[in-house]
Amino acid sequence: MVKAVVLGASGGIGQPLSLLCKISTLIDELALFDVVNTPGVAADLSHISSKAKIEGFVAAKGDMKGETEETETAKKNALTGADVVIIPAGVPRKPGMTRDDLFNINAGIVKGLVEACAKYCPKAAILVISNPVNSTVPIAAEVLKKAGVFDPKKLFGVTTLDVVRAETFIQDISGERNTDKVVVPVIGGHSGNTIVPLFSQAKPSVDIPGDKLDALVHRVQFGGDEVVKAKDGAGSATLSMAYAGFRFAESVIKALKGEKGIVEPTFVYLPGVSGGDEIAKATGVDYFSVPCELGPSGVEKATNILGSANDNEKKLIDECIKGLKTNIESGVTFATK
Ligand code: NAI
Repeated sequence: MVKAVVLGASGGIGQPLSLLCKISTLIDELALFDVVNTPGVAADLSHISSKAKIEGFVAAKGDMKGETEETETAKKNALTGADVVIIPAGVPRKPGMTRDDLFNINAGIVKGLVEACAKYCPKAAILVISNPVNSTVPIAAEVLKKAGVFDPKKLFGVTTLDVVRAETFIQDISGERNTDKVVVPVIGGHSGNTIVPLFSQAKPSVDIPGDKLDALVHRVQFGGDEVVKAKDGAGSATLSMAYAGFRFAESVIKALKGEKGIVEPTFVYLPGVSGGDEIAKATGVDYFSVPCELGPSGVEKATNILGSANDNEKKLIDECIKGLKTNIESGVTFATK
C-alpha cells in the first residue's frame, strides 16, 4: 500500500499533479493539503474511477500561514501514514523575477510544511518542488536534522523539469521525436546557470553543431523564463512541472517497491548518500544534483558523472558551483537562525 500526499495541492502545479497521482496505478491512498480549496479539488478528483482513495485537508479559514491548531490537525491527518510527500506549495515567479526572489515567502512555507512532515511522517520520502530548490532543500534538511529524523536518502530536490526540457529541446536538433529514446543527464542545481545539461553524455549520443550548442544550453538553463514570459504574470511552468514531478514521484515509488535499475538526477545532500562524499569533495558543496540510483530506502547511490564532462561543460560546472554555494548558504542560514 502506498500513501502519497501533495502539499500545495490546489495550486497551478498541485492540481494537475494531484490528477496524475489520482490516476496512477502505483498509489493506493492520496491526501491533498493546501491553505485553500482542497476539499473542492479532492471532491472533483474523487469522481474519477481510478483506485486511489482520495481525501482533501484544508487549513483553517484565513490561516494563510498555516499556524492555527485546526490547521495543524489538518496537516496531521493528511500526513500520517505517508510514504511519499510532494511539495509544490508556495508562490511562483512573475516576469522579471528570478527563483531567488521567491525565497522570502517560500522559505517559511517549506520550513513549516517540513516541520509537519518531521512530526507526522518522519520516514516518508520528501520531494521538494517549491522554489528556489537550491535553498528550500537545505532548509528542509536543517528542519529534519533539528527534529532528529533526517534521512538524506529520502530528501529529494525535484530537478526533473530541467531533464525533461533537455530531452525535449535536443529533439529539435536530432529530429528524433521519441523522448523515451533520449537520456540527457542534467546536474548541478535548479536555477539559471546552476543548471548544467551534459549533452556530451546524451544517450544515444547526439551530434550538436558547435554554433547551436550555446543556445541549447542556455535554453535549458533559462527555459522556465519562456513560460513565465508567455504566461505574462499568471505564473510559471505548471503543466510541464506536474508531468515532471509526477514522473519523478513514480520513479521514487517504483524504487521503494523494489524495482531495480531506476536512475534519476535529483538534488541531494551529498554527505548523507553513498557516493556523495566524492562529489562533495570535487565540487566543494554539500548539495548537488547528480544521477542517483533509487532503491527501497531512497537514494542508493549518487553517481559521480562530473569527470566525464567535456571542457566546455567543466566551465559550466565551475559557474554553477559559485551560484550554488550562495543559494545553499541562504537556506542553511534561514533554517538555523
Ligand atoms: P501556485 O501559486 O499556483 O500554487 C501554490 C499553492 O501553494 C497555492 O494553492 C497555495 O495556496 C499553496 N500554499 C501556499 N502556502 C501554503 C502552505 N503554507 N501550506 C500549503 N499550501 C500552501 O504556484 P505554482 O505555479 O503551483 O508553483 C508552486 C511552486 O513550485 C513555486 O514555488 C514555483 O516556483 C515552484 N516551481 C518549481 C519548479 C521545479 O522545477 N522545481 C518548476 C515550476 C515551479
